[in-house]
Amino acid sequence: MKKIAVFTSGGDAPGMNACIRAVVRTAIYHGLEIYGINRGYEGMIEGDIKRMQSHSVSNIVQRGGTILKSARSMEFKTPEGREKAYNQLQSLGIEGLVAIGGDGTFTGAKLFFEEYGIPTVGCPGTIDNDIYGTDYTIGFDTAVNTALDAIDKIRDTAAAHDRVFFIEVMGRDAGFIAVESGIGGGAEFVLVPETKSDIDLIVKSLKNLRKSKSSSIIVVAEGDELGSAQTIMQLVKDRIQDPSKDFKVTTLGHIQRGGKPTARDRVLASRCGMAAVEGLLAGNTNCMAGVINGEVLYTPFQDCIGKTKPIVSDHLKLIHLLSI
Ligand code: F6P
Repeated sequence: MKKIAVFTSGGDAPGMNACIRAVVRTAIYHGLEIYGINRGYEGMIEGDIKRMQSHSVSNIVQRGGTILKSARSMEFKTPEGREKAYNQLQSLGIEGLVAIGGDGTFTGAKLFFEEYGIPTVGCPGTIDNDIYGTDYTIGFDTAVNTALDAIDKIRDTAAAHDRVFFIEVMGRDAGFIAVESGIGGGAEFVLVPETKSDIDLIVKSLKNLRKSKSSSIIVVAEGDELGSAQTIMQLVKDRIQDPSKDFKVTTLGHIQRGGKPTARDRVLASRCGMAAVEGLLAGNTNCMAGVINGEVLYTPFQDCIGKTKPIVSDHLKLIHLLSI
């Protein structure tokens, strides 16, 4: 293998730049030609591909976002789109890929390998942490700390006015950000898509809690089955029926996706980036490089996509127990 390319795809995550840097410099260290594909699969289809040098990734380790930009490509989901992408890679002689992204990215890479035999190693890049085959994903730690910082600030004003705040964090299919920011932020409740949320229990507990506490924080993952934080707040408010109680909603949104990556994210990204290139060279393809129990391990895309990483049940117990 002489020429490889790297791209970022799906939702961006802090630490993606540190990962790109590690991929580029590891490739150069091993004597490979390295290319960067802009805008994920979209750029692959359009041939928006450039040669990268060591200096191309200078001064990016500390930056959020992704210098290669990112996209969610509909065209790559079609056989015609994948054929165009293959032809673009062929014309440059690119023989292997490093894909930084989440399960949608790996689904595309797996299909591409099956159809065209282009070997790919993935790096887990998503703030959601919902990828099987790694304890943490690149960007998760930064996102949790961003959410936590916001929760701390909201707590100040919640306490000052004796209010109940419903804070919505990201997590379309998973509640990892909600759980960790909820524990760190001392939330009374955390509602996640993985478990059934019980409005009656929340109402009952809030009524009891309010005898001893004047304000409360409820963290809601955006994918909770009961709906958005706004919807859930309304359900609770309608049942509590006490005009003297003040309920507020804050949706944190995309601030969770930006910002300087934490040290943990930069280290994880650098380790995965190096492992992806060395995996490609060793023939470990069609898999993702992740870190489990401190060790770099390769997990087949099949498992990363097909298996669900569960929320640690102790974490949910912790929230319940510490909210008394
Ligand atoms: O996949 C990461 C994520 O941040 C989800 O938590 C969120 O639902 C989604 O991306 C938002 O995506 P977009 O920026 O495309 O609206």
